[in-house]
Amino acid sequence: MFQNILVAVDGSESASKAFKRAAYLAQRCNSKIDLVHVVQCEVGGDSANTFEMIEDLKDKAKRMLEEYRVEAMKNNVPIQITIMQGDPAKTIIEIAKAKSYDLIIMGTRGRSSFQELLIGSVSQKVMHHASCPVMVVR
Ligand SMILES: Nc1ncnc2c1ncn2[C@@H]1O[C@H](COP(=O)(O)OP(=O)(O)OP(=O)(O)O)[C@@H](O)[C@H]1O
Ligand SMILES: [Mg+2]
Repeated sequence: MFQNILVAVDGSESASKAFKRAAYLAQRCNSKIDLVHVVQCEVGGDSANTFEMIEDLKDKAKRMLEEYRVEAMKNNVPIQITIMQGDPAKTIIEIAKAKSYDLIIMGTRGRSSFQELLIGSVSQKVMHHASCPVMVVR
């Protein structure tokens, strides 16, 4: 039913909960997980500084995704990790379009501190534009 699941993580607690739920579901449904993190760099330009900053963010992302990979493997869940660069919502929507996923799983909130919002803008945009079901984990 949920053969291919796309899980998006940003290093937040909410995203960790989403991942745990995804791993649980994947174990029971024999699903494969594609785990993605989108590195967002608001600082424009192509200076050496910007380049270094992006590389640093990618390194951190790699370490985070590797931890998730280990967790998935422990639960015998096949997983592929991907790091992308760009606008998170747009990129997640594009990835979801490119491969036909049965489900996208994300957290309600992310790393931003605007706690008064019920749901973050990335989750909101993905829910709005994705053509497959989206599970937003609270
Ligand atoms: N850069 C990202 N890469 C991958 N997934 C992401 C990224 N940013 C957010 N997500 C996913 O979206 C979920 C909700 O985060 P979102 O960014 O929408 O909320 P927020 O950070 O609280 O608010 P906002 O970013 O709108 O200020 C996260 O739990 C995660 O699953
Ligand atoms: Mg965010």
